[in-house]
Amino acid sequence: MSPSRKAHVLPVVDSTAVFKDDIFKGKVLFCTGGGSGICRVMTQAVMRHGASAAIVGRKARLSIAAKELSEATGSACIALKADVRDPKQVQTAVQRTIEKYGRIDFVINGAAGNFLAPISGLSENGFRTVIEIDTLGTYHVIKATLPHVQASRDPTSTSLTMSCIGTPYQVHVSAAKAAVDALSAVLAVEQGPHGVRSNVIAPGPIAGTEGVDRLSPKGPGSDENYWPVPTGRKGESQDVANAAVFLFSDAASFISGQVLVVDGASEHLRAAALPYPQSVLDPASVQHLIKARL
Ligand code: COA
Repeated sequence: MSPSRKAHVLPVVDSTAVFKDDIFKGKVLFCTGGGSGICRVMTQAVMRHGASAAIVGRKARLSIAAKELSEATGSACIALKADVRDPKQVQTAVQRTIEKYGRIDFVINGAAGNFLAPISGLSENGFRTVIEIDTLGTYHVIKATLPHVQASRDPTSTSLTMSCIGTPYQVHVSAAKAAVDALSAVLAVEQGPHGVRSNVIAPGPIAGTEGVDRLSPKGPGSDENYWPVPTGRKGESQDVANAAVFLFSDAASFISGQVLVVDGASEHLRAAALPYPQSVLDPASVQHLIKARL
């Protein structure tokens, strides 16, 4: 491109600008991790197209989020406290969703645990904890929701991933998410004959998220363009939500067993820039980080 020509950056749009308002009318979304972050924006987008929702998580602020989501969209939303590591708590949350709405059509496995740690400083328990939240948690949710999702015959299971590229200090999360990718692919094949579709969404650098914030270099001289994006801008949570709306919609009825990367083509740059952001994480001071919970 000639230097005098400005890059053409496509704006982020709301899914209601593209899809009809009522495409999910009468449907029910079960979303773990839906109380905050990207999963909350995904839940809001699905609700704006008419679905009711159950958001599931461990934190007290979940009820406030459910109320705000209802007010913002005009659709019903309930908050259910559960730790996805405990199958009994997950089963209870599913049961309460069925008591309230009578069905579950869509599932988002968004609950995840994350912290930065180099493999040299990661304890076995630290590794196991993230596997238990991300991988086992996804398994528990799929097991508990599957009979209802099968009955709906129009379902999609979606979870967030980050295993496509090697990301420094994320060996535990990447391993956990790679297992989720495999789980989703098998689910798509096994359950396809029952009308179940399963896909994974893989977000790239999304502005304002904990992940990008923690993994970005900080301090004097740090590079604002640490996350180069070929399409010219960082992603927004709405970009990921738009992908979820598409995958849940009938427009994606022949799409299953896929990992949909939503990253403006960043993945193809293979660009975990060296040196890694040591200003964020010094492997020599892992003990300090464990205490600080960075
Ligand atoms: N660096 C290295 N190890 C860490 C760590 C860090 N920043 N944070 C936790 N761990 C380790 C702990 O040391 C412990 O291992 P140990 O017993 O060998 O010391 C293990 O992980 C379990 O931690 P614990 O805090 O007891 O587990 P928990 O179930 O209460 O919480 C998380 C687990 C992942 C939820 C918690 O670490 C956390 O709050 N993370 C930040 C918030 C978050 O994950 N947000 C989601 C963003 S996607």
